[in-house]
Amino acid sequence: MENGFEAEDRIITSSFIQEDGDIEISLRPRVLTEYIGQEKVKENLSIFIEAAKKRNESLDHVLLYGPPGLGKTTLAGIIANEMGVNIRITSGPAIEKTGDLAALLTNLAEGDVLFIDEIHRLSRSVEEVLYPAMEDSAIDIIIGKGPSARSIRLDLPNFTLIGATTRAGQLSAPLRDRFGVIFRLELYTPEELAEIVKRSAGILDIEVNGKGCVEIAGRSRGTPRIANRLLKRARDFAQVIGDGTISHQSAKTALDRMEIDHLGLDSIDRLILTSMIKNYRGGPVGLETIAAAIGEEAITIEDVYEPYLMQVGFISRTPRGRMVTPAAYKHVGLPMDSQQRLDV
Ligand SMILES: Nc1ncnc2c1ncn2[C@@H]1O[C@H](COP(=O)(O)OP(=O)(O)OP(=O)(O)O)[C@@H](O)[C@H]1O
Ligand SMILES: [Mg+2]
Repeated sequence: MENGFEAEDRIITSSFIQEDGDIEISLRPRVLTEYIGQEKVKENLSIFIEAAKKRNESLDHVLLYGPPGLGKTTLAGIIANEMGVNIRITSGPAIEKTGDLAALLTNLAEGDVLFIDEIHRLSRSVEEVLYPAMEDSAIDIIIGKGPSARSIRLDLPNFTLIGATTRAGQLSAPLRDRFGVIFRLELYTPEELAEIVKRSAGILDIEVNGKGCVEIAGRSRGTPRIANRLLKRARDFAQVIGDGTISHQSAKTALDRMEIDHLGLDSIDRLILTSMIKNYRGGPVGLETIAAAIGEEAITIEDVYEPYLMQVGFISRTPRGRMVTPAAYKHVGLPMDSQQRLDV
């Protein structure tokens, strides 16, 4: 890491970091009505859940995708809870062999939810075991070796597979096609995030006023996990240098000290923009090149930084690569030269 600053160290990384730990669990909404935002998803989901319950069936397989920290794991838990069934949690990389998946599947009870996080990282051979399981509630097991090997079909209980991924594009088509329901989670609006901050503050017994919530929400890059993390940090500042209540001013001071600007951009976001401007005249430039220039992995840039930089309109994607927009020049305070102005 050239700049000595890992993505995981960022206070505003949207990935799960250790300090989120137990608090993340206590903050997790357990029922659909506690889940703030994602209105379209909630509306459809509540209908599907009600219908499945009425028919006494398990819910169709659900694929959840979207950037980290938007509430995919939370939603999987809520689905199981609302269906009144157990949830088994695993992840793509954890299922190494087909036998691991077979063991998981045969241990499910009728109606259970099997949650596979990072489902795009399942190996091909494991995926193939999943197909008949999803389609016919059965798995094919090979018994014996060599010419005498034969395959027997084992019936499974009806179950609901919930897959989560940050990269739906990496899912194989046959796997994607076997999900009856596909939901894309969107970045949250500042209003929704303010509500999430208020709810979390209530649970954690943190004093925060309305304007304090708004200030934190506005800098959380559309992500509940970040909002919750900033809330905790803002509390530290409020307790040490303020009167304990997170106000507009104390939230602002806290966030400024953490070098998170008023749009929620941190030093790495700004580094991405300035290096694109200074080294590549604002683009178009390839993702790999940007990654090499700032010493980050291309995947991290694509999953973690880029969605938000695009959301605020600072980066646009073109067939020839990424480009910095005029608004971004303004934000980082660099002038566009005349040639660049003609380009955009
Ligand atoms: N809609 C929501 N309303 C309230 N809180 C939420 C909501 N969505 C997420 N959160 C909060 O954000 C935290 C992170 O959510 P979650 O772990 O479900 O994200 P994720 O999408 O699974 O992330 P990852 O891709 O890293 O696995 C949760 O602990 C929860 O407190
Ligand atoms: Mg998750």
